[in-house]
Amino acid sequence: MNAHDGSKAPDGDRTASLLIANKQVKMPVRSGSIGPDVIDVGRLYRESGCFTYDPGFTSTANCSSKITYIDGEEGILLYRGYPIEQLAKTSNFVEVCYLLLHGELPSAAQLKEFDNHITRHTMVHEQMTRFYTGFRRDAHPMAIMCGVVGALSAFYHDSTDIHDPQHRIIASHRMIAKMPTIAAMAYKYSIGQPFIYPRNDLDFAANFLQMCFAVPCEPYQVDPVVARALDRIMILHADHEQNASTSTVRLAGSSGANPFACIAAGIACLWGPAHGGANEAALKMLEEIGHVKNIPEFIKRVKDKSEGVRLMGFGHRVYKNYDPRAKVMQETCHEVLAKLGIRDDLLDVAMELERIALHDDYFIEKKLYPNVDFYSGIVLRAIGFPVSMFTPLFAVSRTVGWIAQWKEMIEDPEQKIGRPRQLYVGPTQRDYVSVDKR
Ligand code: ACO
Repeated sequence: MNAHDGSKAPDGDRTASLLIANKQVKMPVRSGSIGPDVIDVGRLYRESGCFTYDPGFTSTANCSSKITYIDGEEGILLYRGYPIEQLAKTSNFVEVCYLLLHGELPSAAQLKEFDNHITRHTMVHEQMTRFYTGFRRDAHPMAIMCGVVGALSAFYHDSTDIHDPQHRIIASHRMIAKMPTIAAMAYKYSIGQPFIYPRNDLDFAANFLQMCFAVPCEPYQVDPVVARALDRIMILHADHEQNASTSTVRLAGSSGANPFACIAAGIACLWGPAHGGANEAALKMLEEIGHVKNIPEFIKRVKDKSEGVRLMGFGHRVYKNYDPRAKVMQETCHEVLAKLGIRDDLLDVAMELERIALHDDYFIEKKLYPNVDFYSGIVLRAIGFPVSMFTPLFAVSRTVGWIAQWKEMIEDPEQKIGRPRQLYVGPTQRDYVSVDKR
């Protein structure tokens, strides 16, 4: 890794030059505190009449950010500089939320105050419960979450002035705190059980568990091992720099849209199977394989490509090495199954699948390694979550990342409305022909 102190701005007068039709265009090269430099192409169109073309933004940095750093080649993930493994092992989700939102680990007093804010914002407006009854019982919880989160701005209009720092903070607290309640209500609605109110005596993960699994007719005991595992899963998913859903939140927010609407856009994006829907897809794949003896046949189908079958939970746009979150997730998976005394054949399938894939030339050459979703489905299933709740849980965890990135963007003096350009390949100008002459 090529690291240096970002505050020293070693950009100097370094430039990259591009020769287009014999005209040389010089562009500044900017350095971050760590990681690859960027070529600032902001003036390229003005100076050359050309756009850059990069579908999927594989080589394009859309912003500068101080929140999360990934080194995909080395398998490193840092939140505000702290390695994910350290945070997952020694911190807790609420502290990580503070860190992502404010940039530094909190003092004991700051943590207490923040925890109190989050705990006291967990209830949703009582009228929101009526929203749920408008949905079909068999609606996917992500469909419900897109709608309900988008509607938050109609209930909490007093925190939607994006230019007011106090509004931004209140909206952030509300979103982090209410998302578990909204997700748990979506689950309860789908199984026809009454909504369970949040409990202020429980921590973030334990409270989410009780809102999902408690019923009004008997006391609910939270298993501390399960609560700790869930807390860790939330830490692992809390932010991941400019991924598809976060970029969606930033793009939506760049127009000045209110934060609740922006997060609803992020939830919609997260739903896709190439993103947050992957743990659901990975578990379904393991179920389809069913037994270790069927793995070689499955691997053959993946490598054959003709059926479009992929090894779900494998591969990543950024990680070309083992996803550091996958390691922690694998450990958590073993811990939870052992504590709950569950023997899950799918864990055997997953481990053997991983072993075979990591020794197979196809996966080695393409640098495909397990990502965070490979084991998370097994853990979540062991805890008792149905498959349809996997992505909502991801949304609950990622909310803090989305809101921290949204806040950073609003506070960035370089912020502009996101407006990509295109390579137009449609018809050139032609005259309208009336319908009787076509
Ligand atoms: N199984 C089999 N082959 C794969 C896989 C996979 N999981 N992932 C990539 N490949 C192959 C592609 O077929 C392609 O092969 P080619 O070069 O011969 O055409 C090559 O590897 C590169 O793949 P791309 O799709 O171009 O890579 P990209 O960076 O666009 O995709 C993605 C990343 C979407 C995550 C992909 O690896 C994938 O579909 N994985 C499975 C879904 C998944 O687990 N998603 C979770 C991501 S993590 C998250 O969102 C939390």
